[in-house]
Amino acid sequence: MNVGWIGLGKLGAPCAMALHHLAGHDVIGYDIDRARVERMFSEGGDQGEQGFADLIDSGPLKLAHTVAEVVAHADVVFVAVQTPHAPAYGGEAPAPYDRRDFEYGFLTQAVRDVCRAAAQQAKAITLVVVSTALPGTCNKHLRGLLNAHVTLVYSPLFIAMGTTIADFLEPEFVLMGADRPEHLTPVVEVYGQLHDRPVFKTSIESAELIKVAYNTVISAKVVIGNTLMEICEKTGADCDQVIDALSLATERVISPKYLRGGMGDGGACHPRDLIAMSWLAQRLELSYDLLGQMAYAREAQSGWLADLAERWADQTGLDIYILGEAYKPSSALTAGSPARLLAHQLRDRQRQVGLYDPFVEPKRHRPLDKPHVYVIGTKHPQFVDYAFPAGSVVLDPHGYMPDQTGVTVIRIGRKS
Ligand SMILES: NC(=O)c1ccc[n+]([C@@H]2O[C@H](COP(=O)([O-])OP(=O)(O)OC[C@H]3O[C@@H](n4cnc5c(N)ncnc54)[C@H](O)[C@@H]3O)[C@@H](O)[C@H]2O)c1
Repeated sequence: MNVGWIGLGKLGAPCAMALHHLAGHDVIGYDIDRARVERMFSEGGDQGEQGFADLIDSGPLKLAHTVAEVVAHADVVFVAVQTPHAPAYGGEAPAPYDRRDFEYGFLTQAVRDVCRAAAQQAKAITLVVVSTALPGTCNKHLRGLLNAHVTLVYSPLFIAMGTTIADFLEPEFVLMGADRPEHLTPVVEVYGQLHDRPVFKTSIESAELIKVAYNTVISAKVVIGNTLMEICEKTGADCDQVIDALSLATERVISPKYLRGGMGDGGACHPRDLIAMSWLAQRLELSYDLLGQMAYAREAQSGWLADLAERWADQTGLDIYILGEAYKPSSALTAGSPARLLAHQLRDRQRQVGLYDPFVEPKRHRPLDKPHVYVIGTKHPQFVDYAFPAGSVVLDPHGYMPDQTGVTVIRIGRKS
């Protein structure tokens, strides 16, 4: 395919070269700092990137003098320009308390140039933004620059410097976000000639979040590892042994299990152990009270659900009913349950709250005689068959309740 690549920096140069030499695409590159790119090619391109010098030996990349030349050549144009942060936010010094977004000036300029060229040439192109951006950036900064000739795709890369080429050739998965799935077809085609790794297709907003969530989940693992190290140093335990043992728990701990948006802890021991550990963290005077903050986060997140339920109750004039009291589906186990915590918080706010669980009180009638704001407290499978009274609101933090005529069903944090 005819491909354009704008931004031939640490990420862009190796990737553009790989698409050209290894996937057989006809790639043309463009960078505002052409002299640096030419120097890189003439000097053999040692950027500390494994395999990059070999790619350069295969021949240089065609370089455009203008963005218009790129657009004239390409059907798919990748943009991988920098989205920098102020030096104080790079992690090398304690970050200012006043946090900041990345800077998007380079990105908006590149996208503006591409869109203008596509309009001038009346040429339909797919514009693939690769640069890292926080969720909402494409809508806020880029959408207004688009025109009828340009289809936007957000497809960031999960690569580490030093192994850019290997990671590009064999990624864990390829992420692509677009307004419609068919917008992704040309990008799937581009990558299809490079590898057969799985493609995860989603919306632009979700792709933006997945990119940064990937890195921040890694940060969370690092912080947990270091918390355990500090506890080990202060209690005589051995942090490598602790983490080696946890790493054997590939079903529950080192796995996607529990990594879901929704209610709860999924086990009576989870909240109580967390709260006890937050006491230990205080007693040991850990450098940061991560465990205490996690215990507070658990309550704050339940409180956020309570806010949501209250807002709907105020808006509709309905009372709140929590469906499900157990801490896990298809069970009557309620100790430490998040549904009970939610009921507690709502009652503390002087709300009238019902609580019903078909496993806990199998003989009781379902509270479906009149409309309520129902909060699904436990993911019991049978709730999907309930015929809610017309006018009800169903708040579903688990994302599994189907739509029902005459009922407002909100699968919290989900778009479908
Ligand atoms: N380097 C990595 O390993 C890596 C990994 C994942 C994501 N990213 C993301 O990819 C993006 C690019 O990162 P990088 O490390 O390659 O940055 P970089 O600074 O090394 O390269 C960016 C290049 O874009 C060029 N450029 C800037 N504005 C331009 C414009 N309007 N038109 C044409 N060229 C322009 C610059 O001259 C530079 O050569 C960033 O958003 C970064 O966060 C980088």
